[in-house]
Amino acid sequence: MHKQLQQFISEKLPAIDDKLQDLLATANVPETLKDAMTYSLNAGGKRIRPLLVLAAIEDLGSESEDALTVACAVELIHTYSLIHDDLPCMDDDDYRRGKLTNHKVFGEAVAVLAGDAMQALAFECLTTLQNTSAKDALHIIQTLSKAAGAQGMVGGQILDIEGETKRLSLLELENVHVNKTGALLSFCIEAGGILAGVSQEKTTDLKAFAWNIGLAFQIKDDILDITSTTEELGKTAGSDTMSDKSTYPSLLGLEGAKQRLAEHHRLAKESLMFLETEQSLLGLFADYIVERTS
Ligand code: IPE
Ligand code: IPE
Ligand code: MG
Ligand code: MG
Ligand code: MG
Repeated sequence: MHKQLQQFISEKLPAIDDKLQDLLATANVPETLKDAMTYSLNAGGKRIRPLLVLAAIEDLGSESEDALTVACAVELIHTYSLIHDDLPCMDDDDYRRGKLTNHKVFGEAVAVLAGDAMQALAFECLTTLQNTSAKDALHIIQTLSKAAGAQGMVGGQILDIEGETKRLSLLELENVHVNKTGALLSFCIEAGGILAGVSQEKTTDLKAFAWNIGLAFQIKDDILDITSTTEELGKTAGSDTMSDKSTYPSLLGLEGAKQRLAEHHRLAKESLMFLETEQSLLGLFADYIVERTS
């Protein structure tokens, strides 16, 4: 990882973690539910989505006291999506973030409910925005609702499950990836743009960047499922092959998938030209998404 990105991450991570702990510390939550939510949120996720929100705002030359709130809201949605994604009725996985999956420790009913509670908490968290206009706050809430729901992540997840029993075309698979993974990543960039108050023109470039890194992120995830180990990934390697999932490597072969990854990386970097800098944080994130080993 590039030194500048490493430094940015070490600077921002403690604040993200502290804010998430505060959100979990609310009173009157049944102990089992709190334990299950805390277990997955503190299991050692890379926190790429909250970091992207903060990176976008910084690259756009802005700051916002509400950035951390938005960053934590998206990490809550993401973590809930992973708990549900691992359930026996979904991908049926036993390991996540280097630990047993939530349902393996707490049982399926608690895992479902911990995910449900995290989703609601994400939106509750967004009602506490302090320094954002009501119009922008609503825009952020609407953008996250769409990204998380039937038109976004959840919509992508159902198409992904259907892709286990039929062979998808490349265009169909692209649509799965853009929704199940790209939608939440795009939210991070778009929310950064809203908080930074960017122009329509820049928003178009930011959306193109987000679309390409979203796709790149999931293509890399598909590749790692084949090339990496369970120890390195912290989740079961070979899970896609076992469930006969439609993935980029299963459709295009490993080399074909790597070429697509490189192409989306190139397009993502190209759409950052408007930032007029050689070394943006978003550009470094795009590099990291391609080079990462877990
Ligand atoms: C995993 O996301 C799920 C996908 C969308 C591929 P991450 O690789 O960001 O997982 P964590 O948050 O670091 O565990
Ligand atoms: C996950 O896709 C997308 C989600 C919405 C969680 P995967 O099923 O490939 O993610 P991993 O490999 O289990 O992390
Ligand atoms: Mg899945
Ligand atoms: Mg999975
Ligand atoms: Mg995967």
